[in-house]
Amino acid sequence: MYSGSLTAEQERVFDLDALPTMAEIVDAFGDKETATENLDKTFFLARQNEDQWEVLNEELVVALAGYLTTRLSVVSGAIEDKKTILDLGAGKGKLSHFLRVFLSDDIEVIAVDSGTPETHHPVEAIDHKEALERYQPDIVIASWMPYLEDWTQDIRDTDSVKEYILIGEARSGCCGDPWLTWGNADPLELRVDLRNAKEEGRQDKVEKIEKEFEAMKNSPAPYKKDGFVVVELRDLEELQTPIFGVFSTIYSFRRTSAAE
Ligand SMILES: C[S@@+](CC[C@H](N)C(=O)[O-])C[C@H]1O[C@@H](n2cnc3c(N)ncnc32)[C@H](O)[C@@H]1O
Repeated sequence: MYSGSLTAEQERVFDLDALPTMAEIVDAFGDKETATENLDKTFFLARQNEDQWEVLNEELVVALAGYLTTRLSVVSGAIEDKKTILDLGAGKGKLSHFLRVFLSDDIEVIAVDSGTPETHHPVEAIDHKEALERYQPDIVIASWMPYLEDWTQDIRDTDSVKEYILIGEARSGCCGDPWLTWGNADPLELRVDLRNAKEEGRQDKVEKIEKEFEAMKNSPAPYKKDGFVVVELRDLEELQTPIFGVFSTIYSFRRTSAAE
């Protein structure tokens, strides 16, 4: 059980310069049976202190680098062209740092974050919109985009972007906006609001929420409307470090030539 202090092996999991393997993470937090539970308890504190949301491991980052290399060869122009990956809301820049280690030199990885994360990794202090305009990336990554914020419209509006990858909780989870980001027309949050409005007898609010449901039901998801398709990257998800019983997910949104 989490006691308030970490062993050296546990600290290494959150070290910005270390990338332990999954086996090392499991060993650091117990055996296979207890590791996830112990990691959960530690994770909340570590996340608060370190502002690292995805618990990275070597297998995942290596596989993500391989995936990005393949996708860039499919979606970007001439082989000799420089390719750009933009990590939005990169926090302390650990993911970008290790992607650079495993990607070839012709692929530039730029990390930005509008907060002021104290980190020795290169993270530029600008917001997602400014970064998209400035860097015109081929592929965008957003790991644990803040809850009820949506950057994906701005990402899709950037013509250079052929694909964006969202890491974190999906649909009605704590990343992004259920509808604007995920196209989830039946968001849990809105169902709870509807139930509360009904219980409180707030007919005006009930009607407003029902209209919202109706509007979503009758429209294509924003990403579809903008000519993107979504693919869940299950091979990568299998390599994610499990935390708090809920698995973080990895979805790719890809631009198709024709919008619906
Ligand atoms: C939940 S943290 C995720 C950090 C990191 N990507 C990770 O997975 O550990 C969200 C980050 O987004 C940053 N952020 C919030 N709004 C932003 C914006 N509009 N543009 C860029 N970064 C933003 C915050 O400062 C914070 O570091």
